[in-house]
Amino acid sequence: MLPHRLAGRLTDVASTLQHGADMGAVPVSTQGSAPLPQAAPARLKVFPPTFVWGAATAAYQIEGAVDEDGRGTSIWDTFSHTPGKVLDGDNGDVACDHYHRWRDDLAILRDLGVGAYRFSIAWPRIVPTGTGAINAAGLDWYERLVDALLEHGIQPWATLYHWDLPQPLEDAGGWPAPTTADAFAYYAEVVGKRIGDRVQAWSTLNEPWCSAFLGYYHGVHAPGRQDLRLALAASHTLLLAHGRAIEVLRSTSPGARLGIVLNPAQLEAASEDEADVAAVRRLDGFLNRWFLDPVYGRGYPADMLEIYGDRFTQPPDQELRAIATPIDFLGVNYYGPNIVRGDPTDEFLGTGSVRRAEDPVTQMDWIVRPEGLTELLLRLQRDYPVGSMAVTENGAAYKDPPAVDGRVHDPERMHYVEGHVAAVGRAIAAGAPVMGYFVWSLLDNFEWAEGYSKRFGVVAVDYATQRRTLKDSGRRYRELIAAASQLSS
Ligand code: GCO
Repeated sequence: MLPHRLAGRLTDVASTLQHGADMGAVPVSTQGSAPLPQAAPARLKVFPPTFVWGAATAAYQIEGAVDEDGRGTSIWDTFSHTPGKVLDGDNGDVACDHYHRWRDDLAILRDLGVGAYRFSIAWPRIVPTGTGAINAAGLDWYERLVDALLEHGIQPWATLYHWDLPQPLEDAGGWPAPTTADAFAYYAEVVGKRIGDRVQAWSTLNEPWCSAFLGYYHGVHAPGRQDLRLALAASHTLLLAHGRAIEVLRSTSPGARLGIVLNPAQLEAASEDEADVAAVRRLDGFLNRWFLDPVYGRGYPADMLEIYGDRFTQPPDQELRAIATPIDFLGVNYYGPNIVRGDPTDEFLGTGSVRRAEDPVTQMDWIVRPEGLTELLLRLQRDYPVGSMAVTENGAAYKDPPAVDGRVHDPERMHYVEGHVAAVGRAIAAGAPVMGYFVWSLLDNFEWAEGYSKRFGVVAVDYATQRRTLKDSGRRYRELIAAASQLSS
């Protein structure tokens, strides 16, 4: 079976920046004593003045303070404290201590010049046991954050669910249980009533494919179960929870943009061979259409229903209608493409992934190919009535050198970000309705089953001292944002 964001790969990042003199090269200035390497010509004119430049994080990955102010336990607390589940036995107990240092982190956001901050709300801080009692201290904390962001002209983009299901809900059946959708709608209502008037964009779920299949089928994410039937049931409850939360938020947050964040895979056949092309089609069903089709009102894809057979029960029309409650935007998380081949030894879908020697990869072993992002955005626009899209996550893990004299030189991540921003520009130029780009991540943080071993931040975090240092990639991102806003002013 193919793992999470299987990889594969082609182009040299630098070369992707060359194709675009048509948009006008923008020189960007450098700051500090040691200047950054010359920026590749970023074709920024194509980004509309309203384009949202942001940075993203998620609660469990940065907050820490897991036992404070009435927070309940989530499946990630349980999972990360179970020996053998997370690399080096790491957990999110302290993480980036953002719960206490959020004002400093807000200052970093301001320094970067972002127009929006995408963060997630920890469900167990709001409804600690998943049902019933509301924890006022949790609501207060997020309200303070939202108000402070607004005070500084940064749009709050909130995600309701970035993987931290309250443990009592898991004990009652977790995402495979339909009642979890009721609990989610309740949580959405509680949060929406409190800060719905101020949050500018809501995402219901982050990457439900990961929640369902990494959590309940592959078992490499919390809660670590391994049963396809459960994963399929979980995917349906997640989608139902999404639709119901959209309905709730539409009334509590009438001025906000509402959406869902998926990680649609950019799948490329290893060859023109029919077996490889058919493998792409099946994998597209498994990873992409299984979520996109119902969200956009088409129900579950027939080819996948056939493959799953009696392992999935077709839900009633009324639930399919709820899932298809209209949304305003699709959030797209993209890291790299997957090169796919037919593989008869794979018992599940008969697919495998290919890694070619010439494909550059990140420390996660994910292929670096910015063109894949352009192609993915155009495909989504072509195949679905997306209305509007935002790249809600894009970034890379590399092995960074330690901070010296307040600098962290991370040229690979810097080129990765430049290359992908340019790729978004090309998608826009070709007509894709992309309204925002969020770098993943603001801070180095707890990378799920990889613990702290993988760093995605444009800001380095020294976990021993909690010192933050803006990496060169962060400096370059700041330059890009400044140049883009200069052009549009
Ligand atoms: C995801 C999550 C993030 C990850 C990031 C890097 O996309 O898996 O949204 O929380 O940390 O994507 O893997």
